[in-house]
Amino acid sequence: MVKFNSEYTHADVTPKSYWLNRRKLMMGGAGAVLASPFAGSVLGKAFPSPIASPYSTDQEPHSFEDITTYNNFYEFGTRKGDPAKHAHNLTTEPWSVKIDGLCDNPGEYSVHELIEKYSVEERIYRLRCVEAWSMVVPWIGFELGKLIEDSLPDSKAKFVAFETLVRPEEMVGQRSGFLDWPYREGLRLDEAMNPLTILSVGLYGELMPNQNGAPIRLVVPWKYGFKSIKSIVKITFTEEMPPTTWNDQNSREYGFYSNVNPNVSHPRWSQAAERVIGTGLFAKKIPTLMFNGYEEHVAHLYEGMDLAENY
Ligand code: MTE
Repeated sequence: MVKFNSEYTHADVTPKSYWLNRRKLMMGGAGAVLASPFAGSVLGKAFPSPIASPYSTDQEPHSFEDITTYNNFYEFGTRKGDPAKHAHNLTTEPWSVKIDGLCDNPGEYSVHELIEKYSVEERIYRLRCVEAWSMVVPWIGFELGKLIEDSLPDSKAKFVAFETLVRPEEMVGQRSGFLDWPYREGLRLDEAMNPLTILSVGLYGELMPNQNGAPIRLVVPWKYGFKSIKSIVKITFTEEMPPTTWNDQNSREYGFYSNVNPNVSHPRWSQAAERVIGTGLFAKKIPTLMFNGYEEHVAHLYEGMDLAENY
């Protein structure tokens, strides 16, 4: 069952020492290493001392329980509680990500190689789902832009396409034709290179829980959540705008850009406000911010574009 909240507050389930350390650290400047935030805790086996990032929001993250029990991951079913129930069936080791398309240095890397090569940090980001709810997640990840630079995209490359694994034996939702598998997403190359865009390999200092997109997923914090594709096996540089799952499914409701924008309604509901997960179904909604609050970092990407047309 999805637990919406109420019995506890986030502070109850967030290791206190961790947040105290984080606050101290933020005063000390970016790039410092957290002092073993999870010492003595059951959390944090994989990334015990993540580097904090100046891109993190100051907002309190949601509880591990909220983040791992209220999910969209249609490969495991369409209800919010389905991924938590079924995603444990997914084998995430070994796993590799193929880089191909219009680039001079294609390759195939295991997730271990990627973690070793690109220093991971903690990025506490707001996630705003197109269904008008939001949460705050302490992701562990590295900038996609670094991997792109090393892949040497050629001058024709204008977009980056992403694909999720297809393995119906382990992904029960893929045995239905609800979506055309694989799940696909895409970004313009400059969006993919923006330092806010990360490939995430964990959260709360732990390896990525399966229901959140193990072992490696995209996180694009200024776009609606469906752009943040999970369990990625392929990244391809293309010249043309690549097809994407929700745009293919229903292009009137889901555009390629899908930037969080309170001024452009979804055809069936307003996007001006959001329900914060964990505050209860009857809690007051909060106003949605342009680009989900990341305007200063990304508004320049869309200068001169009509964002109502390019939704
Ligand atoms: N990626 C895949 N492969 N399949 C999906 O169904 N759902 C998307 C996105 N990535 C989805 C996906 C949607 S709609 C959202 S809101 C986010 O994942 C949810 O991420 P979370 O479960 O970690 O909060």
